[in-house]
Amino acid sequence: MLDPTFPIELVRSSYPALADGFAYLDGAAGTQTPQPVIDAVSAAYRAGIGNVGGAFPASDRSGAIVAACRAAVADLVGGHPDGVVLGPNMTTLTYRLARAIAGPGDEVVVSRLDHDANVRPWTQTGATVRWAEVDPVTGELPVAQYADLIGERTRLVAVTAASNILGTRPDVAAIAELAHCAGALMYVDGVHATPHGPVDMRALGADFYATSAYKWSGPHIGAVVADPALLETLRPDKLASSPDTVPERFETGTAAFADLAGVTAAVDHLAALVPGTGTRRERLLASMSAAEEHELALFAVLIEGLETMPHVTVYGKPARRTATAYFNVAGHTPRQVAEHLAGLGVNVWNGHNYAWELTGALGIRDSGGAVRAGLVHYNDRSDVDRLLDGVARLG
Ligand SMILES: Cc1ncc(COP(=O)(O)O)c(C=O)c1O
Repeated sequence: MLDPTFPIELVRSSYPALADGFAYLDGAAGTQTPQPVIDAVSAAYRAGIGNVGGAFPASDRSGAIVAACRAAVADLVGGHPDGVVLGPNMTTLTYRLARAIAGPGDEVVVSRLDHDANVRPWTQTGATVRWAEVDPVTGELPVAQYADLIGERTRLVAVTAASNILGTRPDVAAIAELAHCAGALMYVDGVHATPHGPVDMRALGADFYATSAYKWSGPHIGAVVADPALLETLRPDKLASSPDTVPERFETGTAAFADLAGVTAAVDHLAALVPGTGTRRERLLASMSAAEEHELALFAVLIEGLETMPHVTVYGKPARRTATAYFNVAGHTPRQVAEHLAGLGVNVWNGHNYAWELTGALGIRDSGGAVRAGLVHYNDRSDVDRLLDGVARLG
């Protein structure tokens, strides 16, 4: 049942780009930007910003932007503002943290469900690598295998909170319990999961939670959130002259200050998707729950429509998932399907989408992967209908 109380028309009207008439089902690769985020970025530039730590007001403004951004990201994921490390994207930050956390003599556990950005940074540390396998039919990541994979030499377990192609939400909390019992750290990739529902990194058992603002209506900025006390124990490579405090120690070079103002505006936007009261954290939890319900109700129509078409193969059937579908159409390459849909005004992705190990496990990486159609909070029933109609025409 579609939720009639979710204010979809109001939400859509915040996004100027949606006026071009395309059905934006490519949100898993990056969402569109609402007006308040565009305004916040341009307001930062208009007001005048300087590098942080100077003796003049424009420098203070940048300092305030950074502090507000850390507080906003902490509210979004349930973390501590002093543990929010900001950077250009999740991949860059994960490489940086991986070098500081693991090395030869350690063991790391990675999974074939993960985006490559939560695999290669760990496998390239020189640590011994242990692999968690996926069930290629269901798209699930069975938890039981972790009891054998995690041992006393395990330094870290890296796992995604949701697959960026199948949408699978593995039981991260159960994996974290096994990791913590063995004294290992948990690095959770929340890039795909964050836009699709409320996040509580502590409930997930995440020692590190990575996210990217451009997946949830913000600018191209990444963040990794951890307990500041844990960050204090790590020594990343850094310049002699840059701050040694936490979290600044993990941030290289000059930040994109105006974009950070946009990140805060994006969090405020998400907190206000539905009317609510209370702290921003409380409003975020309510708003993102409503968004998840909205997405999953639409997704039920989308996935049922695809699964009943005889010329379509849908990959995975995970029990808990985001509104993300990955499929192929008989007689057409994924690229041909994406081009056909683009011609009908429907944006979808084709390829492996950096889910390198997973598309390998599905046996489709070398043949061009598949087509990904994903829903976010601004998608509506007509987006779904246009996708289904376009795919049906290929039958
Ligand atoms: C699940 C997942 N993890 C990591 C990444 C990489 O994020 P970034 O582009 O911020 O490096 C992506 C990007 O698509 C993703 O979907």
